[in-house]
Amino acid sequence: MSNMIPALKSYDLIGDSKISLLDVTTVSGENCFKELYREYISSKIEVNTREFKSISFIVDSKLSKEAYKINISEHVIEVFFSDYNGVLYALQTLRVLAEVDVEGSKCELKCGCIVDQPKHSWRAIMLDVARSFHGMDTVKRLLDMMVLHKMNVFHMHLTDDSGWRIEIKKYPLLTEKGSYRPRTQINGWGSLDVDETPHSGFYTQDDIKEIVAYAAARGIVVVPEIDMPGHFTAAFAGYPELACREIPCEPIWFYGGKFAKKMGIENSFRSACLGKPFTFEFIYNVLTEVFELFTSPYFHVGGDEAEKKEWSKCPHCAKYMEENGIANTYELQCYFINEISKFCKSHGKTLIGWNEVLEGGKLDNSTLVQYWTLQKDRGVVEHLNKGGKIILSKHKPMYMDMSYAQYNLKNMYNFNEHMEGIKTRHDSQIIGVEAPVWTEFISSREKLDMQLFPRMEALAEVCWGTPRNSFKEFSARLENFKRILDVYDIWYAEPNIASCKNPIKRLRTRAIWYTSNTELEFKENKLLRAARQKNQK
Ligand code: ACM
Ligand code: ZN
Repeated sequence: MSNMIPALKSYDLIGDSKISLLDVTTVSGENCFKELYREYISSKIEVNTREFKSISFIVDSKLSKEAYKINISEHVIEVFFSDYNGVLYALQTLRVLAEVDVEGSKCELKCGCIVDQPKHSWRAIMLDVARSFHGMDTVKRLLDMMVLHKMNVFHMHLTDDSGWRIEIKKYPLLTEKGSYRPRTQINGWGSLDVDETPHSGFYTQDDIKEIVAYAAARGIVVVPEIDMPGHFTAAFAGYPELACREIPCEPIWFYGGKFAKKMGIENSFRSACLGKPFTFEFIYNVLTEVFELFTSPYFHVGGDEAEKKEWSKCPHCAKYMEENGIANTYELQCYFINEISKFCKSHGKTLIGWNEVLEGGKLDNSTLVQYWTLQKDRGVVEHLNKGGKIILSKHKPMYMDMSYAQYNLKNMYNFNEHMEGIKTRHDSQIIGVEAPVWTEFISSREKLDMQLFPRMEALAEVCWGTPRNSFKEFSARLENFKRILDVYDIWYAEPNIASCKNPIKRLRTRAIWYTSNTELEFKENKLLRAARQKNQK
């Protein structure tokens, strides 16, 4: 188990004997499982044709969802499972334990019995493809990494003020105008630096179908997010009538109100007008296309950080509030979210929203709440008390776009579901854990890698429910696991960066830069990576 991530629930060894996957020549079970064996194991190794050892895939309906059991003896490997993900995860375990991916590996397994199953049913990563568009290859590579780590939900943040990234056939201007911005703020929060290179990109509907199918083959559900009513400016670029004030605008190329204030740019961040019938007609048409593309039983409405200033001055919003007995703009947002929830239900989908959707105090309790805010949200506790369900994504330590100087690897490893007032009596209402990666300042694949790895390894242990009582032991396993990451050329954060060994020096000397500008960590990481690779040669 010295390289296994997430650690197995149990692996009881029988004696000192071993079997090598190089000697396995017979695979029995249903054809689809034989195919998976070929994909994850035998396509990577030269099977030794003189030996006659076998692996069998056997259904055991007593096993719970996603669980698996493997009996390993000198001549036979038996894999027991009750569903597709169970087989998939058994294969990932064999692949990691035997280091199948690593060139020259003997692919050996110790004889014994492995029993394994996840704690959380929602083991998720969120990628923001709106601020920085990441293309098909990067998305597929991330999905490949997710299955290796036994993660099963990929949340795509598809739209935001800075870009609309999904083709909607009924409204072509969403991508014609909304997927392009002429320039971008760079170098982190608080910087005034601007890169004058235009940024664009979106997924066609065929791309989306390809992503959904690619993910499904890896046991991963893709959850789409169309963020509204705030973070909606990219839609106004094509359809300005969606806003309270119909004025021309383009996707926003800077991040956060502070930059706007410093540059003297006013009122950029606006929300959809909730008083115009066109807004609802538009959203329902968009969602009808989105629901056709994604097989997920969930739809994510966003609902975070909605700017409410314009609503209180808008005659359309005022009329709508009066007609529907809505007392204030917080209730207005809540009313809107509940309308979207009804629409989702009528299409067999459950709504998810960031925890601000609780603000109006009248949220339909069937809405899944994703708890992200740094501040404790009493609304979340009330939601739990009323029987509602949540996904945990607390900013610290789950926001993987943060610098390691702020949130280091140990913070992720030490994550505890009972932070922030969540009581053990609500455990069954926590459906899982999700780590978002926001990409305001992450436009390259290499930088994305550095932010994600090795945080994803710690996250995988949190999600799988590995007892986390020794960071030292985890770190040792991680070092061995990196042999596999190296095969895939993952630009993980080097130990000195990930553990942020010298935060005091950094904080004293370059406090603001090291905490808000991940570009500096990236540059330092690049040097450390090159030095390590030189030493390894
Ligand atoms: C968020 O970080 N605004 C969900
Ligand atoms: Zn309005």
